[in-house]
Amino acid sequence: MSENITIPPTQYADYPALMPPAELAAMQRYARRDPDGFWLQQAKRVHWHRKPKHGFTGSFTGDVSISWFEDGLINASVCCIDKHLTDKADQVALISHREDRAEAEKITYAMLHERVCRLSNALVHLGVEEGHRVAICLPMISEAVVAMLACARIGAVHVVLFGGFSAEGIAERIIDSGAVAVITASESMRGNKIVPFKAIMDEALCKAGAESGVRSVLVVRTSDAPVPMLPGRDYDFHDFVDSFEADFVPVVMRAEAPLFMLYTSGSTGKPKAVVHATGGYMVWAAYTMGMVYHHQPGDVLWCTADVAWITGHTSVVYGLLANGGTTMISDSLPSYPAPGRWLDLVDEHKVTMLFTAPTAVRAMMADGDDVVNARNLESLRLLGVAGEPISPDAWLWYHDVVGKKRCPVVDTWWQTETAGIVLGPVPGVQPLKPGSASTPLPGLEMVIADTQGRPVQGPAEGSLCIARSWPGQARTIWKDHARFCQTYFGMVPGHYFTGDGARRDADGYYWITGRMDDVINIAGHRLGTAEVEDALAADHRIVESAAVGIPHPVKGQALAVFVIQRQNVATELTEKGISRLISGMLGRYATPEAVYLVPDLPRTRSGKIVRRLLRKIASGEVDNLGDLSSLNDPSIVRMLCDRVWSHM
Ligand code: WT7
Repeated sequence: MSENITIPPTQYADYPALMPPAELAAMQRYARRDPDGFWLQQAKRVHWHRKPKHGFTGSFTGDVSISWFEDGLINASVCCIDKHLTDKADQVALISHREDRAEAEKITYAMLHERVCRLSNALVHLGVEEGHRVAICLPMISEAVVAMLACARIGAVHVVLFGGFSAEGIAERIIDSGAVAVITASESMRGNKIVPFKAIMDEALCKAGAESGVRSVLVVRTSDAPVPMLPGRDYDFHDFVDSFEADFVPVVMRAEAPLFMLYTSGSTGKPKAVVHATGGYMVWAAYTMGMVYHHQPGDVLWCTADVAWITGHTSVVYGLLANGGTTMISDSLPSYPAPGRWLDLVDEHKVTMLFTAPTAVRAMMADGDDVVNARNLESLRLLGVAGEPISPDAWLWYHDVVGKKRCPVVDTWWQTETAGIVLGPVPGVQPLKPGSASTPLPGLEMVIADTQGRPVQGPAEGSLCIARSWPGQARTIWKDHARFCQTYFGMVPGHYFTGDGARRDADGYYWITGRMDDVINIAGHRLGTAEVEDALAADHRIVESAAVGIPHPVKGQALAVFVIQRQNVATELTEKGISRLISGMLGRYATPEAVYLVPDLPRTRSGKIVRRLLRKIASGEVDNLGDLSSLNDPSIVRMLCDRVWSHM
């Protein structure tokens, strides 16, 4: 069984280990003995306008409060740009590969400084002030990185919105965040499909209506196609921004000032924005990326995540740039126009560290070894995955076929709420176990709790919790601190509960068993089943629905939805229509794999839907449905199984 494989660091003799194993162990001990001392030492990784003297203040109990480096003063854009201008001004900071351009854009630290400063001036001119929220909804083009850093420079809080959200989803988030400005694009190509960013944004702003506080919209013209502009509100990004001064004095921020908010899914219907604070986040981003993706001169990291996710924030932008590396972004698709497209880009840009999602690994694996073997890939020296579980087999394929057994594979576990890597190996230092996210980085005290919420020692399986705060921890949920306290600290007293289950083996390695709440993970995109059910509840033709996750060979999980239709409505629903309804309300990424119109759902005698059964029925795992005697009407199960089978 590949579950039991351990690969010693000696396998990667050419990989420059960050430190000897004994030093890592000493770091672990120091962090445990003197957490504040440890984190104040790590804080030196970034530039401070005033160095902090305090580490953590706050508490995980009662009205939870979390604060780090509270006497420190900082600006995140200075950490990512100005800090490197003395010795790396001409080093490429950002490679932006656009499929519609013959030549990739190579932006040095000096050029990045110039661009960020111009946009900073432009935003201030438009009335954006410190603490204001700015929504960024862009494809993976250089302006996305520039926009985030410009917000940071003026002290505005960026809210990056995924281009795959529907107009409805964007409207909801624009209202909730109170954004005063938007930065978007005219359109973008995804393979051979056009994504009309500006048209979706216009529809979103129209839906938001008077509830939107957006006064200005900057539009990056990505093609020559005509784009309607609303005079007085909309500005052509480059026409407007490029004539501003190329210098802007950064606004000095308190460490606890929010740097960004990011929407993510939980077990209730409403998406929540988690808020991250500047100082702690920057230290954490630099630390976690420095430990796992420690780069050498000449390295190019390509993290294929969209900037709209936490991976895009920390691995593409803040962590890597804080450490002075070269980051690459691209709007390409892994298999368009042909399988192996991403591998071509690895060769073309001499990518040394490739960081992608298990979904992409499984897709490459399905394309076959020949596609990989037809490429050179000699530049690669480190491979990474994160965002969802990867099976030992897929891990080994990535390691053996893509990495030719030369490159360590780092599987890192983290979340929007943790903002950076929590579980992950230090490559070249620790043994690797395919399928395991390894061990906690120094400074993180992981706990496995049993069903009663009691921490258990040694090898164990249960809920994955963290006992002590870390600098990059989310501070709150925007406008809903009570929800923050209840969601993350209500489960195991005095501990942060991640929402995931995990097993810890005898060597202290962690194996993630999956979400314990009603969150599913489709190709690395987090989706709450309650979001889907809420969206459907808004349609008067639907009495009730239940959404569940089912296993999918490439995406990891997919969405299956059971819908009870109201009788005698004028226009009847179809399964296709329901699918469109969901993608229209939430976005394309939420398009269900299967929709079943059913007369009823399995329920307990008190009327509660039995999701456990629905999950099994929808996955076709009908051999082992367990005891059905507690159901109100066990015959419904047979009927649902028939419905699902007739689809398969
Ligand atoms: C959820 C967080 C890498 C951060 C981007 C996702 C799942 C994350 C792993 C992993 C197994 C993983 C968890 C987690 N997850 N990394 N290496 N192995 N599962 O951030 O969208 O907030 O999702 O993704 O279930 O809770 P996110």
